[in-house]
Amino acid sequence: MMIKETYAVAANDMSVAGDVSASIKRQMKRLGIPNQIMRRVSVCTYEAEINLVIHSDGGEIDFEISEEEIRVHVRDVGPGIPDLEKAMTEGFSTATSEVRNMGFGAGMGLPNMKRNADGFSIESEVGKGTDIVMTFNI
Ligand SMILES: Nc1ncnc2c1ncn2[C@@H]1O[C@H](COP(=O)(O)OP(=O)(O)O)[C@@H](O)[C@H]1O
Ligand SMILES: [Mg+2]
Repeated sequence: MMIKETYAVAANDMSVAGDVSASIKRQMKRLGIPNQIMRRVSVCTYEAEINLVIHSDGGEIDFEISEEEIRVHVRDVGPGIPDLEKAMTEGFSTATSEVRNMGFGAGMGLPNMKRNADGFSIESEVGKGTDIVMTFNI
């Protein structure tokens, strides 16, 4: 079984935020991915998707399944993260008060992605964008 799908995530549009991770979850259900894995992939794709909406200028999420693993590749076109270590710290957030009032911006997204994925890598360049690869053993 080999599946690769690419989903676009638009910046700023909170009305559709969560739709991509919901589609990915549906897909995993259909394929019979074990619950324990599905839950962790869902947490990670949801957090990544929200970050694209509230922090980035838009991007894409690749969802890939092979025999050994699920791979989620998240990339955006900016603005990039100036201090990755800070961004990875629990509770650190640059979310606006508007976003916080909608219940986002607790600063737990990136730490939760790292915790829930079996493999996690993040690269970011200011002015260029952010690139995250998460893998989950099947
Ligand atoms: N795709 C992104 N583009 C730019 N900055 C980001 C992106 N993802 C995360 N960040 C930065 O890292 C911080 C921490 O992210 P996260 O842990 O998800 O917390 P939160 O989204 O609640 O602020 C964000 O507040 C933001 O400054
Ligand atoms: Mg977040």
